[in-house]
Amino acid sequence: MRMKLLLPLLVLSFFHAYGQENKPTTQPKIIAIKAGRLIDGISNTVISNAFIIIEGEKIVAVGPDVKVPAGAEVIDLKNATVMPGLIDCHTHITGQPNNFYDDIFRRSPIDDAVTAHIYAKRTLEAGFTTVRVLGARDYVDIALRNAINRGDIVGPRLICAGLAIGATGGHGDLNGFSPYLNFNNFSNIANGTDEIRKLVRTNIKYGADVIKMIATAGVLSEEESVGAPQYMLEEMKAMVEEAAMWGKKVAAHAHGTEGIKRATMAGVASIDHGSFLDDEAIRLMKEKGTYLVADIYNDDYILAEFAKLGYPEKIIEKERKVGRTQRESFQRAVKAGVKIAFGTDAGVYPHGWNGKQFAHMVRWGQTPMEAIKAATVNAADLLSWSDRVGSITVGKLADIIAVDGDPLKDITEMEKVKFVMKGGVVYKK
Ligand code: ARG
Repeated sequence: MRMKLLLPLLVLSFFHAYGQENKPTTQPKIIAIKAGRLIDGISNTVISNAFIIIEGEKIVAVGPDVKVPAGAEVIDLKNATVMPGLIDCHTHITGQPNNFYDDIFRRSPIDDAVTAHIYAKRTLEAGFTTVRVLGARDYVDIALRNAINRGDIVGPRLICAGLAIGATGGHGDLNGFSPYLNFNNFSNIANGTDEIRKLVRTNIKYGADVIKMIATAGVLSEEESVGAPQYMLEEMKAMVEEAAMWGKKVAAHAHGTEGIKRATMAGVASIDHGSFLDDEAIRLMKEKGTYLVADIYNDDYILAEFAKLGYPEKIIEKERKVGRTQRESFQRAVKAGVKIAFGTDAGVYPHGWNGKQFAHMVRWGQTPMEAIKAATVNAADLLSWSDRVGSITVGKLADIIAVDGDPLKDITEMEKVKFVMKGGVVYKK
């Protein structure tokens, strides 16, 4: 009886020991970053001469008194300012404009799909380790996200909306052409609460992380208005309620005052663009805790370049109506204490230039530290990813960047990111 039991036990323990010895070394790599100046995303002051210890993809220790573990690889950033990886809450990473008519008639979503990786890499190298993608044709954003997550290509962590949901004739529709012209894209058009709920579900079915609502008219499309509301309150409420049922937040493209108020009342998580804010809109957003994601760099680029790209004068004229007003709205919102998250609409201007917006945010009312927080801890909160990204604290993913100078003294340092780490892997040095 005893012998019978002993033999299998011996065999088992042999294999156990053998297995242990031959296991590939799965010890996670340990890295120590020496940070001359550290902005951790939480504190309002800069911490001098801190160490950040990274084990595998996570931060395991941080602070001035932290000891470097034996055998750790040391990355020396003692002359730099080290910060959390930046987050852009409003991008269209799958493309950027080349020519108005070429883009419509000669490029399909397949063209987007084969070139999107270029923009993903540029964005990451600019220091943006996480971005929200608020609308892409035919779920190209989701395929891109999945390829990045698999490690097939290099890019930021993506939170994707799939198809941006809009009304017939609205900003998300293709307007101004013959009624006989049809494209065979996946339709992003939904009217009435039933169609809206169905399109929310379809987006989620194909992998959307967030829902994008086209709440008002816009600039870079051929509808007449730039800010008229394009959904009824009831339709917006249905979209938010349906998304919430699946655990998703809604981001609203909204320029005009009435549409901003409706979307805020419907419970969207962010008002994106937010060009025409009146006092009541600001009050409502504060009351509801709605984030403002204002792309206040865009105007410079559109007015300088878009006529050359063949955009109709009507569209350029719409931009002239929103540009300055949007910046003044941003300034008033900042002063009133509306929650601000960084979002640029990258893809309207070249990907990788995302950092140019920091200087505008400072010019229009934020301190450099507030602007940096908008792109780190606040953005992470809007994305419901505070447990993962947005600060250099224990337990977070090691998404870490550095600039040479002091961005609190010269905010344009944010345009010159020198070091990029995502999940403990260095992408730029
Ligand atoms: N995608 C936006 C739209 O077409 C871009 C607006 C850009 N202009 C601005 N001032 N932010 O409406």
